[in-house]
Amino acid sequence: MKHTHTLLKSALVALALSVAGQVQAQTTDAKMNTFVSALMGKMTLEEKIGQLNLLTPGGGVLTGSVVSSDVEAKISKGNVGGLFGVIGVEKIRQAQELAVTKSRLKIPLIFGSDVIHGYKTTFPIPLGLSCSWDLPLIEHSARLAATEASADGLCWVYSPMVDIARDPRWGRVAEGSGEDTYLGSKIAAAMVHGYQGNRLGDKNSVMACVKHFALYGAAEAGRDYNTTDMSRIKMYEYYLPPYKAAIDAGAGSVMTSFNEIDGIPATANKWLLTDLLRKQWGFKGFVVTDYTAINEMMAHGLGNLQTVSALALKAGVDMDMVGEGFVTTLQQSLKEHKVTLTEINDACRRVLEAKYKLGLFEDPYRYCNTATATKEVLSADKRQAARELGARSCVLLKNDRQTLPLKKSGTIALVGPLANNKSNMLGTWAVSGDAQLSVPVLDGMKQVAGSGVNILYAKGANISDDTSFAKKVNVFGERIDIDTRTPEQLLTEALTTAAKADVVVAVVGEASEMSGEAASRSDIGIPESQRKLLAALAQTGKPLVVVLMSGRPLTLTTENEQATSLLEVWFQGHEAGNAIADVLFGNYNPSGKLTMSFPRNVGQIPIYYNYKNTGRPQPEGPTQKFRSNYLDVANDPLFPFGYGLSYTTFKYEGLTLSANKISGGKTIDVAFKLTNTGAYAGEEIVQLYLRDQEASVTRPVKELKDFQKIKLQPGESKTVHFTIDKEKLSFFNSQLQWVAEPGTFDLMIGASSADIRLKETFELL
Ligand code: BGC
Repeated sequence: MKHTHTLLKSALVALALSVAGQVQAQTTDAKMNTFVSALMGKMTLEEKIGQLNLLTPGGGVLTGSVVSSDVEAKISKGNVGGLFGVIGVEKIRQAQELAVTKSRLKIPLIFGSDVIHGYKTTFPIPLGLSCSWDLPLIEHSARLAATEASADGLCWVYSPMVDIARDPRWGRVAEGSGEDTYLGSKIAAAMVHGYQGNRLGDKNSVMACVKHFALYGAAEAGRDYNTTDMSRIKMYEYYLPPYKAAIDAGAGSVMTSFNEIDGIPATANKWLLTDLLRKQWGFKGFVVTDYTAINEMMAHGLGNLQTVSALALKAGVDMDMVGEGFVTTLQQSLKEHKVTLTEINDACRRVLEAKYKLGLFEDPYRYCNTATATKEVLSADKRQAARELGARSCVLLKNDRQTLPLKKSGTIALVGPLANNKSNMLGTWAVSGDAQLSVPVLDGMKQVAGSGVNILYAKGANISDDTSFAKKVNVFGERIDIDTRTPEQLLTEALTTAAKADVVVAVVGEASEMSGEAASRSDIGIPESQRKLLAALAQTGKPLVVVLMSGRPLTLTTENEQATSLLEVWFQGHEAGNAIADVLFGNYNPSGKLTMSFPRNVGQIPIYYNYKNTGRPQPEGPTQKFRSNYLDVANDPLFPFGYGLSYTTFKYEGLTLSANKISGGKTIDVAFKLTNTGAYAGEEIVQLYLRDQEASVTRPVKELKDFQKIKLQPGESKTVHFTIDKEKLSFFNSQLQWVAEPGTFDLMIGASSADIRLKETFELL
């Protein structure tokens, strides 16, 4: 009785709180509406269109050919709504001063930036972070980035990038969370929560901008900016959920993508930006284009600048990034009845609302406090977090004879072009990070190993010997530096060094700008210069630990044979050397698991674990004629989604289901025992996959539906619980309705998508 009473009481309290919350939101909305309406009542048409104009005065990374000119005059005239690429609290204050002292209505500017994996303190690239599968930690990384960026004057970040990608040739996989929709959606929400904090308008919160809406990760042939084309059912099921998750988490803005969808570029796609985003999903924030995406629709073949600008506005775009199509053509289009005043007003209102939510009308210098900047920017706690995040992003792909962790004694030969390098540690899209503040692997190893270890270093090879390739990669600075010594001299030095050591650690892979925007590759192996180095080191017979830096999955079939141990570390940011050393020497036991499949060769791409069975699946065993397979390579990847080793081992046993049949509203409790059977404390990411055996549309052979990261001491056990509910059994049918159909489901618990340890079936009635 007492129990019921307490439950009732807490339900009533919850109800009261939620009603209070709603009432408060309504009053805030009402206040905002009144304020914005009053302001818009004073605005001229030109000033309204000015709010839709986002410029960059340069200084950041310019990804298009255009840089805004005459920015100061334009701000003073009220022709600019926001700026990006202005870095530093003083510069931002100065620009804001122009807007609020010189422009007629003193409307503050919004200041954005590409804060993608940290701000000035750089964290691991998003693909790396996703391999931690650690949602609280990922949220924390975004919180820290928000704290640092907002302290330095910014209030808007172009993140999270949530584009699902199944093609590692596409360089921008580095910026996303891999191939899986379920995990990608969870990470999208975690990042939005991290950036936006308790509430927009708090001084340490920034507005998130989910991008690139939509389907940007499905570019044909992995070539950046290329066409995408897919069925609605595939869109709804696999590609759209992470954007929706970010929006449901409250993301204040959305960035359109460069690609077309159903033959219409995203930036002019009314179905996408209005019907789906606003009407179906209820998005209330504002939509900004990607860099000159409106202008690029001329090249897509949609008409001249006036036409494409009108199309973008009518589709639902509110802010035009850099291209100035809106400011130069919308007045004319209005005169010619090609756009309506309501459309201009709606866009202007949404931009002003964003500024209102960020508290900029209350105090335009809200994020411009020099003392806070000094305290927060590059603070010690953020460096420490970078180190922890780095260690947790590493994925151990191979570890024969328990070569890792390394002993803190003896002699280690540390070789490779990325072993003593600062310029490549940050990874792509670290626009505000200073590479010179990075810790190279050599320094980190010396520091972590202590005086008991003799570490000898040799470069061994250039990242690439190809000067024309290096030129293309080096557009933002020298990432590939070609040594004055010949490749033969470098190799000889490495072999002499290796001869003196007990173990060889080779740090190899991509230069940081070999992945990222406009960094597609048709061959995703490590460059030949480094392959030669590894082959020669393998010949020495010494244990060979290969540390791989890359912004994408690589093809590693040969390297996997040559190496004794393989550790994928991605690009880790400022603390790279320390974090990698923590893992190599066992101060941290690696727990990361891949979020993208590593193909055996490029011909297998696109490759992903949640494929469909086909009518002629290849059975286990040798290749069979008239089956879905290749003559020259297996179907499965070299390293599958969800894969990653630990210095310890885990045993999965005793799977039980609370019921084997459920009806619609009921749930099943799934339980099993997980034991750490090795000698090290460690974390295991346990994964729950489902397969719908029979449905009205074809279903994948397995789909991730839940996971947990469990920490166990040696010998320790824990019972792990999952709940199966109707949501986990649902999918989009051919009418695009989200349904769960009765029938049998396979439930699989695994250490990776290919390493299923426990299996059961159940039925939905
Ligand atoms: C990229 C975006 C980025 C924008 C602004 C574009 O080229 O596609 O991801 O946010 O530039 O820098």
